[in-house]
Amino acid sequence: MEKGPLLLTIAVLGGTGKEGKGLAYRWAKAGYKVLIGSRSSERAVTTASEIMELLEGSSSLVGTSNLEAAQLAEIVVVTVPYSAHRETLESVKDVLKGKLLIEGALPLLPPKMTKVQMPAAGSAAQEAKEIVGEGVEVCAAFQNTSYELLLTDEDVECDVLVTGTSKDARTEALRLVEAAGLTGWDAGPIENSVVVEGLTSVLIHINKQYGTTHAGIRITGASHNS
Ligand SMILES: NC(=O)c1ccc[n+]([C@@H]2O[C@H](COP(=O)([O-])OP(=O)(O)OC[C@H]3O[C@@H](n4cnc5c(N)ncnc54)[C@H](OP(=O)(O)O)[C@@H]3O)[C@@H](O)[C@H]2O)c1
Repeated sequence: MEKGPLLLTIAVLGGTGKEGKGLAYRWAKAGYKVLIGSRSSERAVTTASEIMELLEGSSSLVGTSNLEAAQLAEIVVVTVPYSAHRETLESVKDVLKGKLLIEGALPLLPPKMTKVQMPAAGSAAQEAKEIVGEGVEVCAAFQNTSYELLLTDEDVECDVLVTGTSKDARTEALRLVEAAGLTGWDAGPIENSVVVEGLTSVLIHINKQYGTTHAGIRITGASHNS
């Protein structure tokens, strides 16, 4: 029997951090089994219990190492700083075959966070694809979603553009976007992630210019019903 989306297990590597914790909270709340990954299993266990407490114990969350989380999950989401994404991917790539990898890292290089700076591969997501190699579908998502909007039950006024290596992979990633309570759009092949990742520098610039912390984007003129 094919597994329904609610039975899939999601690993969030770097799930102890700001973005990963917010996503883990929303997916656990939606009924997914979530594995918080970390370089320190102890830190991961602490984060998992913090989220369980927020959800009043009604969800399935486990804290463990990044490697074990990636081993046990069907979908692996990376939410570590760009400076750590290569090392993190290298450490788990052997257990990713046949799985979906969702890259959440952005090539933001402090202190120039308001200036687009892309790696030679094109984008962080394309770099991730190069690192993990054949047999792993890679999507990019959540790059424009501020963590401040995630660890709440509020609606998020920022759409999620999903790019990826195949239509099926993007469809799977879009299910997770919807489960997190956000509006997602199929934004095309993984090469398009350069635009989505670059857009975050624009949003950070807008934050600075207009005195906010979570400027976002919304797609207009399109509907999910058409
Ligand atoms: N923050 C946002 O609003 C936001 C929005 C969109 C996209 N993003 C992207 O999402 C990613 C995570 O952002 P964040 O703000 O959540 O980052 P963060 O809180 O600074 O770090 C996330 C986790 O990454 C792990 N980590 C940190 N340094 C590491 C290193 N040198 N090597 C291996 N792991 C390391 C840590 O987990 P352990 O110490 O437990 O291993 C940490 O808890 C970034 O690439 C960021 O650009 C962030």
